[in-house]
Amino acid sequence: MPTRAPKVLVNEVSVTFESHGRSVVALDRISLHAHAGEFLCVVGPSGSGKSTLLRVLAGLPRQSAGDVRIEADRPGAPLTAMVFQEHALLPWRTVRDNVTFGLENRGVGRAEREARAREMLAMVGLTRFAQHYPHQLSGGMKQRVGIARALANDPEVLLMDEPLAALDAQTRTIMQEELLRIWATLGKTVVYVTHSLEEALLLGDRIVLLTARPGRVSQVYAVDLGRPRGLEVRGSPAYGALLEKIWSQLREEVVRAMTEDRGGEHA
Ligand SMILES: Nc1ncnc2c1ncn2[C@@H]1O[C@H](COP(=O)(O)OP(=O)(O)O)[C@@H](O)[C@H]1O
Ligand SMILES: [Mg+2]
Repeated sequence: MPTRAPKVLVNEVSVTFESHGRSVVALDRISLHAHAGEFLCVVGPSGSGKSTLLRVLAGLPRQSAGDVRIEADRPGAPLTAMVFQEHALLPWRTVRDNVTFGLENRGVGRAEREARAREMLAMVGLTRFAQHYPHQLSGGMKQRVGIARALANDPEVLLMDEPLAALDAQTRTIMQEELLRIWATLGKTVVYVTHSLEEALLLGDRIVLLTARPGRVSQVYAVDLGRPRGLEVRGSPAYGALLEKIWSQLREEVVRAMTEDRGGEHA
């Protein structure tokens, strides 16, 4: 094993929410890491704490226990930027001004903001739409803006919470290819939450499987399917075997989440 420090280190992190007089344990002593430049996927049933994990990595909410470390290489760069399922674009700002929003808030000068926006819009294929407004864009294009906006901040780690889940299947496939291309170009460390095992197998270097609530790390799988990786990987025997292996485990957790809906909750 390499001795260098991982880019992202989550050590024994627990998160408990208090709501309506009840404690809900969302994450229970989660430990995981991501190497610099790694594409780490997190899968697990609904309610297993995937979004909570990303929010903890982003520094909101404070975990109830444990520590989170993100190794910063570039002074001044934000540690993380998040891409959500809903793009949450500002409707009154143009595509370009949505992309520069975070930079503006950090006091980055106009010339640099505009250069950065141009670069990121080119990266996501939206150069011609810089002056459009969000309502003029398709769902896939809005999600590209969300990705460009996160990347414009040049974070140490990119956090993605089911970013393609709301897209139709064809658009999602195109966006998966685009994400792989962007990731290969920028070499960013990515922590990517998805409920789709197929997506995790297409994108990820490793897959962390969370249990039904309270979320714990069930297994971590290495995705040894080579790079560059495209849709054709689905035809390989190694893909089929890994899919079957992880699914048999994930399936158990999904069933458990469905039947023990109150697991981890106590008065
Ligand atoms: N702000 C909150 N207050 C109370 N409970 C919460 C809050 N956020 C998440 N939870 C609960 O924590 C658990 C994990 O939620 P979440 O991280 O959204 O799961 P996932 O993203 O895997 O579906 C769920 O039971 C959810 O209801
Ligand atoms: Mg979620």
